[in-house]
Amino acid sequence: MTSASSPVVILDFGAQYSQLIARRVREARVYSEILPHDTPWEEIRRREPRAIILTGGPESTLEPGAPAMDARILESGVPVLGICYGMQLIARDCGGRLIPSSIREYGQAELALEADVPSPLFEGLPAHSVVWMSHGDTVTELPPGFKPLAHTARTEIAALGDRQRKLYGVQFHPEVVHTAQGRRVLENFLYGVAGIEPTWQMGNFVDDAIARIRAQVGEAKVVCALSGGVDSAVAATLVARAIGEQLTCVFVDTGLLRAGEADEVTAAFRDVMHLDVRCIDARERYLKLLAGVVDPERKRVLIGHEFIKIFEEQAAAIAGVRFLVQGTLYPDVIESKTKGSKAGHKIKTHHNVGGLPEQMKLELVEPLRLLFKDEVREVGRVLGLPEHIVNRQPFPGPGLAVRVLGAVDEARLRVLRAADKIVREEIDGSDGLQPHPWQYFAVLTPLKSVGVMGDGRTYANMVAIRAITSEDGMTADWARLPFDLLARMSTRIVNEVEGVNRVVYDITSKPPATVEWE
Ligand code: XMP
Repeated sequence: MTSASSPVVILDFGAQYSQLIARRVREARVYSEILPHDTPWEEIRRREPRAIILTGGPESTLEPGAPAMDARILESGVPVLGICYGMQLIARDCGGRLIPSSIREYGQAELALEADVPSPLFEGLPAHSVVWMSHGDTVTELPPGFKPLAHTARTEIAALGDRQRKLYGVQFHPEVVHTAQGRRVLENFLYGVAGIEPTWQMGNFVDDAIARIRAQVGEAKVVCALSGGVDSAVAATLVARAIGEQLTCVFVDTGLLRAGEADEVTAAFRDVMHLDVRCIDARERYLKLLAGVVDPERKRVLIGHEFIKIFEEQAAAIAGVRFLVQGTLYPDVIESKTKGSKAGHKIKTHHNVGGLPEQMKLELVEPLRLLFKDEVREVGRVLGLPEHIVNRQPFPGPGLAVRVLGAVDEARLRVLRAADKIVREEIDGSDGLQPHPWQYFAVLTPLKSVGVMGDGRTYANMVAIRAITSEDGMTADWARLPFDLLARMSTRIVNEVEGVNRVVYDITSKPPATVEWE
């Protein structure tokens, strides 16, 4: 059985697809962890890995200083699968030969298995199948002990293996969906070559996590900031399961939440998740803070700082508090651990509860740091969290303050909340939207325009509807919502929300726009 203590280790050579490999392995119900490519063997061995996967990477193994791995990995007896750059590395380090290819191979290709060398890696695959390639260098001479397992029209050695030592390499990318049999190849490696049983599931994770939290925290007091989002809710619930009353949660009602939200989430925290929550009514404080502030960055910074101040005040009032719970997820951990991730230009100062520890002298409890977002949702379900928390759409830390464009006051927040409620009701109530928008909300613009209602002239606010499709919020496209649905939202907003006489639909993607308007 795999568990968090004996994972499949994925060594990251800077591939675009490292996270995808980890996800595919976990989808095969085998636990996996990503480590930087130069992790010393001692550190890998300590984890008792059941198998090791070497990712692709942007470099060439033929160049001086190319990312390498600890030589002891290939001698350890642990089964290894090298993907793309990973295969080239196995070939190079085991004594084969490579050349920089004059013909590059990108995109789809047809993989033909070598009929005379049946391999457990390709068990059950058809003789020909579509694979996805992306490489320059090519293996021209096999290392001693290896056999060629497959070729494509352009690449003579597209897969290689040493059955005895359980070392395998594939030039193609089994982790991408364009490789028709990719899932099968990975499963063959995990189950067939490495002999791992597909037993990883969220129930195991929950039990492991609870034991680890207890061991880390002991008798100490722990504090957690709840945002209403899924990450902090799941993290807090796990910690509460582990240490019960030693945990105090703090929820700050900034007044910048959506209609009904503060009541809904606090009720769920208390009645369903049984968390000890201190609800801080900071609505007045935030309105004062934001009065007259128009600049979006200034709003974001003020809101973030105020949140930290309030949270610090609350934490200081809890005697003996030593730990802080954070809902950090695996992508953030990988981002800061693996090399080569260059920070881009700052577009917006994102604020969420993850900004807290830099300011506070508390040790961190991060029970989700090995999980992906969809796995966090699954843990939430295992823990019995309500669907409206588990499936909550992303909501920015600064809340509605970045959706009321320009100065924020209670009257404008009220208009936005009412319009936003209609947008959510209509989209939530529309079955079969394909794809279902990833995020959808209303924005109150600072524009007024002329309209006519009854027989009278109006001069009132303009509301924009934003609905996007996205995987992760990094890029997004505007959702192609049915016209009838748009019409219903528009009619309801102008009829039901006082002070609005015009509704527009935002048809910009990200980039060049961003998801939020501020
Ligand atoms: P942008 O507007 O940057 O938004 O394209 C991308 C995604 O991030 C959300 N967002 C935030 N999330 N704190 C957060 O936790 C923030 O300060 C913040 N600002 C934007 C946004 O809703 C979208 O899903």
